[in-house]
Amino acid sequence: MTIAKSELYRDLAEQLAALLAGEADRIANAANAAALIYHGLPDLNWAGFYFRQGAELVLGPFQGKPACVRIPVGNGVCGTAASSAAALVVPDVLDFPGHIACDPVSRSELVVPLIEAGAVLGVLDLDSPLLARFDEADREGCERLVALFLEHHRQYPDA
Ligand code: SME
Repeated sequence: MTIAKSELYRDLAEQLAALLAGEADRIANAANAAALIYHGLPDLNWAGFYFRQGAELVLGPFQGKPACVRIPVGNGVCGTAASSAAALVVPDVLDFPGHIACDPVSRSELVVPLIEAGAVLGVLDLDSPLLARFDEADREGCERLVALFLEHHRQYPDA
């Protein structure tokens, strides 16, 4: 990770921890996390969450243009990351078979699954209008933000 990017993600992680502190509501916290990421990272046109309901991912809190509400697990970049339970960095969405074009401006994408006790609860999805906007440093940084979000919510198993 370059120093600049590692600092940026460290700063975002600190801000996210401060935003989450003391709050149990998953929707409110996901909304603030999406806003923090969208405004904190350069060159994004969409940042937000999908949460799993059975065999579908359902749109959660996000920043950006209105998006597709339901994505079958296994479809598109989000559904593929969910079914494989692994992060996906897609340098050119036009080269990804089955990519779901919610916003035609999107050219590259990063999806990080939310995994708790081996189950995929949803995904964090970032879109950029730039080709190859995301690299391994972004994947690591976003995985850290997702881990922080999940760790925080372990305190509130019934929320
Ligand atoms: N492009 C995603 C769909 C979600 S939107 O980008 C917000 C996909 O292929 O799964």
